[in-house]
Amino acid sequence: MSEARGEPAQPQATHGFAIRPSSRVISLFNDRTCSAMELKGKKVTLRELRQIDAEPLLAHRKCNLTFFEKTLPKLPDCSLTPEYIGQEIERNRCRREEGSAYRFGVFENASGDLVGEAELSKPEKSCDPRLGPHYAIGKRHCGQGYATEAVKLLLEYGFGDLQLDLVRTGVLPDNCAAVRILQNFGFQEDGVWAERLEIQGVSRDLVAYVLSTKVWRSGDG
Ligand SMILES: CC(C)(COP(=O)(O)OP(=O)(O)OC[C@H]1O[C@@H](n2cnc3c(N)ncnc32)[C@H](O)[C@@H]1OP(=O)(O)O)[C@@H](O)C(=O)NCCC(=O)NCCS
Repeated sequence: MSEARGEPAQPQATHGFAIRPSSRVISLFNDRTCSAMELKGKKVTLRELRQIDAEPLLAHRKCNLTFFEKTLPKLPDCSLTPEYIGQEIERNRCRREEGSAYRFGVFENASGDLVGEAELSKPEKSCDPRLGPHYAIGKRHCGQGYATEAVKLLLEYGFGDLQLDLVRTGVLPDNCAAVRILQNFGFQEDGVWAERLEIQGVSRDLVAYVLSTKVWRSGDG
């Protein structure tokens, strides 16, 4: 990654959000526009998106439109502009401040390229208060364990720094790779998600999956 990095994270508040000391949150650094947090893994690093990421993020989404539309809601056409994505990045900063979502770009360590997106968030259109992992990796970079590592970093952050006791997410039952990732971490089925998603013009149910900190820690050592 090309950004200049600062010192390892120390207890401090950024944007009104207190960062607890953690070995997992490896750095906070500043550019002139905002600070960004990153969670470093072996293959990928999750880093909060900044305004300079708007163009690469737009290119990534455009490149994967058809692929993502098989399992994720269609992006509105108006969202495919750098201006819209810039506003979205700002909105995500606000969501982090209020504690409703923690969204990151997924950057490949070998190249520094943006290869996906991942977030811990409350589901949209639902009164379920639980945060949970949501993730998408570009088609060209699938099959290399990137989503697995991204989810691991999200869970370490959620159960560690955010001190969550349970995370909850929903997936399409036929999204075999996404289901497999959750099962590999010990997620258990928890009924049908009340929310329905419009996927390729069809209203679909999601299967809810939960993971408690106890189960996570028993597998995490
Ligand atoms: C689903 C998605 C995140 C997977 O990303 P990825 O980086 O390829 O995933 P990983 O390489 O980390 O791991 C995939 C796991 O699923 C398994 N898998 C892949 N395809 C599979 C299939 N068709 N059936 C069953 N398991 C499958 C892999 O073997 C691996 O499991 P393993 O570690 O036990 O071997 C990616 O395809 C994607 O972004 N899709 C579009 C968006 C999306 O669906 N997001 C999930 C919304 S909940």
